Amino acid sequence: MLYLILCFLLGFFNSSLLSLSSSLPPTHLCRPEQSSALLQFKSNLSLSISKCSQEFHIVSVHKTDSWDEGTDCCKWEGVVRDNRKGNVIGLDLSCSGLIGSLQSNSSIFSLQNLRWLNLAGNYFSNSEIPSEFGKLRSLTYLNLSDTALTGFVPHEFSLLSELVSLDLGRNYLLFRDHDFNMLVHNLTKLENIVLDYMNLSLVVPYSFLNLTVSLKHLSLSYCDLQGNFPTQVFHLPFLENIILSSNPNLIGYLPETNWSSPLSLLDVSGTRFPKGLPGSIGNLKHLKALSLSRCVFMGSIPSTLGNLTKLTFLDISNNMFQRQIPDVFGNLNDLSSMDFSSNNFSGVFPSSAFNLTSLTFMDFSSNFLQGTLPNNISELSYLRELHLYENLLRGRVPGWLFSLPSLEYLDLHSNKLNGPIDSIQEPNLVLLNLTSLDLSSNNLSGNIQSCMLVKLRNLRSLDLSFNNLLSLTRCSNDVNSTLPRIIEFLSLLATCNVSQAS
Ligand SMILES: *[C@@H]1O[C@H](CO)[C@@H](O)[C@H](O)[C@H]1NC(C)=O
Ligand SMILES: *[C@@H]1O[C@H](CO)[C@@H](O)[C@H](O)[C@H]1NC(C)=O
Ligand SMILES: *[C@@H]1O[C@H](CO)[C@@H](O)[C@H](O)[C@H]1NC(C)=O
Ligand SMILES: *[C@@H]1O[C@H](CO)[C@@H](O)[C@H](O)[C@H]1NC(C)=O
Ligand SMILES: *[C@@H]1O[C@H](CO)[C@@H](O)[C@H](O)[C@H]1NC(C)=O
Ligand SMILES: *[C@@H]1O[C@H](CO)[C@@H](O)[C@H](O)[C@H]1NC(C)=O
Ligand SMILES: *[C@@H]1O[C@H](CO)[C@@H](O)[C@H](O)[C@H]1NC(C)=O
Ligand SMILES: *[C@@H]1O[C@H](CO)[C@@H](O)[C@H](O)[C@H]1NC(C)=O
Ligand SMILES: *[C@@H]1O[C@H](CO)[C@@H](O)[C@H](O)[C@H]1NC(C)=O
Ligand SMILES: *[C@@H]1O[C@H](CO)[C@@H](O)[C@H](O)[C@H]1NC(C)=O
Ligand SMILES: *[C@@H]1O[C@H](CO)[C@@H](O)[C@H](O)[C@H]1NC(C)=O
Ligand SMILES: *[C@@H]1O[C@H](CO)[C@@H](O)[C@H](O)[C@H]1NC(C)=O
Repeated sequence: MLYLILCFLLGFFNSSLLSLSSSLPPTHLCRPEQSSALLQFKSNLSLSISKCSQEFHIVSVHKTDSWDEGTDCCKWEGVVRDNRKGNVIGLDLSCSGLIGSLQSNSSIFSLQNLRWLNLAGNYFSNSEIPSEFGKLRSLTYLNLSDTALTGFVPHEFSLLSELVSLDLGRNYLLFRDHDFNMLVHNLTKLENIVLDYMNLSLVVPYSFLNLTVSLKHLSLSYCDLQGNFPTQVFHLPFLENIILSSNPNLIGYLPETNWSSPLSLLDVSGTRFPKGLPGSIGNLKHLKALSLSRCVFMGSIPSTLGNLTKLTFLDISNNMFQRQIPDVFGNLNDLSSMDFSSNNFSGVFPSSAFNLTSLTFMDFSSNFLQGTLPNNISELSYLRELHLYENLLRGRVPGWLFSLPSLEYLDLHSNKLNGPIDSIQEPNLVLLNLTSLDLSSNNLSGNIQSCMLVKLRNLRSLDLSFNNLLSLTRCSNDVNSTLPRIIEFLSLLATCNVSQAS
């Protein structure tokens, strides 16, 4: 009773907020036929104790446990009811542990007032995706992600012309080209379309030309897309996120002009975009993440990259970029991850990268970069990984490397670094978190005493091999010796001189 009053009050409050002009008293009960449709939907499925798909990192909760016959559906978890007419207008059963087949006669398709439907992360036992979804004409939000639905997406989906957001990703679903064309042509209000891990191999990518101008978010990773991607999609005026990653047979190029100015996330990694990176990329003032890895990109890097001051993530690794990297990173204060590895860059290392205060990950490995590491650096206090291996770097290993407080991985192997590395033996060393240090295959010299490494409490792997002039001495008073495990490692690689001090 108390509950009904509460329900009524809440209902009244909501409806008076939503429709101030209305003088009708609110009803507070779900329509009985809709309540029983929900109960039938529940009874036709079982519950699993399994978690939601790992990638969502959500533990499933049995929302339908609260659905009891005889109580109003206002009380049921995941159910949203329109307060005036008592219609069920929203259903969020995402990650609810539901298991069973989803048939075309399922009672859920009678809930024709639904505006939001989220069934993501349940398991519909490889049921063929029912064409009856096309009956739910009021839907503005539909999420069927990761539900083990199969088959061709029926053409009836193009009847859902109110849809603003559609997620069919992570299912064994395919689209016929014609049906997909109809869908993108007819869903003129779409802002958000996620089809990751679907099979779009039959869709001619030119169909994306028919996408509505209102589009903000397009996600198509692992879709087996084939052929040429229309560059015009990058011009869509409201586009914020575009993810085309891991479609190895998708060919395209980035536009020289007319980029969508709100673009914030651009990911074409693992596709074939064989042309260069245009200088116009620097006009994307809102760009936060740029991922161009594994795309056979060629040419040099435009200096306008330094204008992307909002950038937090930059990955251009594993391409065929070449020539000098412009030294323009000084203003990228939010950049936390930069990966330029496995390209063909030459010339001097861009030292402005060492000025980036927010950096946690830096990788320039496997290039032809020359130059020396700077002598004095006070930034990089969040840097956890630094990979500069397989380059042509010369000069000393500077002391500041061993005072980076967050450093866990330092890999400088296969360069031309020389001189002693005394700084690793300094008494005030703060590298508590260093777990892996690889300085092998350089020209380092001098002697390191084992007892001086005792502060590197987390060191799991040390490789100093292939430095002919470098030796390691075991201290006789090395009580807690960190050395045994290091020697063990070194002895596998062997060419470093290990001697026993007496
Ligand atoms: C679905 O639920 C209804 C009502 O609870 C029941 O009559 C019907 O047999 C169920 N169908 C299946 C396939 O479980
Ligand atoms: C739905 O159809 C299936 C077969 O297609 C049948 O087994 C099931 O009983 C039907 N369920 C209802 C609720 O009619
Ligand atoms: C497009 O949507 C409208 C409703 O807005 C519908 O009448 C029409 O049949 C749909 N076209 C297709 C090809 O589905
Ligand atoms: C669909 O639901 C899943 C699971 O809750 C979520 O991760 C995903 O972002 C949703 N998709 C959209 C487009 O809202
Ligand atoms: C996608 O579907 C096509 C046609 O059915 C098939 O040839 C292809 O192997 C599928 N791709 C993937 C990645 O499963
Ligand atoms: C766009 O859609 C219309 C109608 O579905 C179709 O005739 C046309 O070929 C499509 N355009 C492209 C480029 O696919
Ligand atoms: C860029 O936009 C301008 C103005 O809208 C237009 O004249 C020009 O043709 C566009 N260029 C390309 C390559 O689309
Ligand atoms: C963009 O970068 C170029 C070259 O680095 C520079 O000359 C120009 O002033 C920058 N523009 C803006 C708006 O920051
Ligand atoms: C890489 O650069 C080297 C010299 O810097 C050049 O000889 C080689 O041809 C380049 N390789 C590619 C694939 O561009
Ligand atoms: C890095 O910062 C230092 C001090 O803040 C400054 O003197 C130097 O010019 C900067 N280097 C680059 C390449 O931006
Ligand atoms: C060192 O690692 C621990 C455990 O991962 C972490 O909590 C701590 O913040 C790290 N210290 C620094 C200075 O990053
Ligand atoms: C050896 O380790 C113990 C316990 O971790 C510590 O209390 C002691 O100070 C260490 N001794 C030396 C010489 O570092």
